[in-house]
Amino acid sequence: MKKLKVGVIGVGNISSTHIEGYLQNPACELYAFCDINPATLKEKGEKYGVTRLYESCDRMLAELPELDAVSVCTWNNAHAPCTIAALNAGKHVFCEKPMAMNATEAEKMRAAAEKAGKVLGVGFVRRFGNDADLARALVEDGKMGEIYYAKANYIRRHGNPGGWFSDKSRSGGGPLIDLGVHVIDLVRYIAGNPKPVSVYGATFRKLDRSMIKDTRGYVVTGSDIRKDVCDVEDLAAAMIRFENGCVLTVETSYSLNTDRDTGRVEIFGTKGGIIIDPDLSFHSVLEDRMTDVTFPSSTAFNGTEYAKEIDNFVSAILHGTPLRAPAEDGIQLMRILDAVYESARTQSEVKL
Ligand SMILES: NC(=O)c1ccc[n+]([C@@H]2O[C@H](COP(=O)([O-])OP(=O)(O)OC[C@H]3O[C@@H](n4cnc5c(N)ncnc54)[C@H](O)[C@@H]3O)[C@@H](O)[C@H]2O)c1
Repeated sequence: MKKLKVGVIGVGNISSTHIEGYLQNPACELYAFCDINPATLKEKGEKYGVTRLYESCDRMLAELPELDAVSVCTWNNAHAPCTIAALNAGKHVFCEKPMAMNATEAEKMRAAAEKAGKVLGVGFVRRFGNDADLARALVEDGKMGEIYYAKANYIRRHGNPGGWFSDKSRSGGGPLIDLGVHVIDLVRYIAGNPKPVSVYGATFRKLDRSMIKDTRGYVVTGSDIRKDVCDVEDLAAAMIRFENGCVLTVETSYSLNTDRDTGRVEIFGTKGGIIIDPDLSFHSVLEDRMTDVTFPSSTAFNGTEYAKEIDNFVSAILHGTPLRAPAEDGIQLMRILDAVYESARTQSEVKL
């Protein structure tokens, strides 16, 4: 069988998960890498034995007409240009989250995919977790009843990675667009992808620049020249209302004077509730008794999800199977994020 020739644009940290995913998939051939940073490009090329190396995405696309698909793992500001260029060159694209800097860019990406007739997937990796599968099964089995309220947080106490992450011109924003995106999308996915209708949000940039430090040891890829820029929020909080009446409150931070890092998702229905922190548990009242259900093996996010999202993308290309995270969901997320930032700016509710 002819293998899919795959390229990766932006070969920094997260690209390794895509690369490993393609290497594990027998239908794929890792074919080319692209990065604007020659040192990163050389290092990744040597590590994975890839010799077609390009410092420009346009050059790679022009010189490799035989390339079938690409992953886009660049800084956020390059997601839309690289994705649109690849789609226009007839490649299928799997783009990391957040889909783009804003919803307008995301819509242009979807339009390019439709015009080219190519697959465009978004890297909402939390959709591939055992917790997400279990939660979806509970919802589909009617165990949750009507979902009407959810809470999600993704809080780092002292975890601003700096570099491009804290430079708004390249990231589009701070913890909301980087971390909040994961938990907002997970809630939407579990709840059946309801459309957002209104948002009230607040963002804060209160803390000293000395807080630009990631104590978890995350090292930003070497191409970062403006390491000291920080014009993104430290903290974002929002209340999001969906068309089915469900309301989600979300909190996310890079830096916050609290006691610890947290990541917790809670979803409440008329028959049951789900908590993910980090394992999933189910809570309800059965015959007047409060019932708490836990599961024998861990359902927490463990990194194996990245290979599953690559398999889903490859299967969509080869067999036309549905994408678990299509462009439409990337766009809905960008609409929510845009509205949080707009609401924070105007200090009023934004209707979508
Ligand atoms: N799904 C997840 O769990 C997850 C985790 C981390 C990061 N991400 C996302 O992945 C993306 C990359 O994050 P990272 O942590 O790997 O960052 P990184 O800085 O380690 O890597 C990004 C790479 O992109 C390169 N680059 C930037 N612009 C480019 C362009 N126009 N053409 C080619 N290369 C370009 C940079 O030189 C750098 O090497 C971001 O969008 C981020 O939000 C997702």
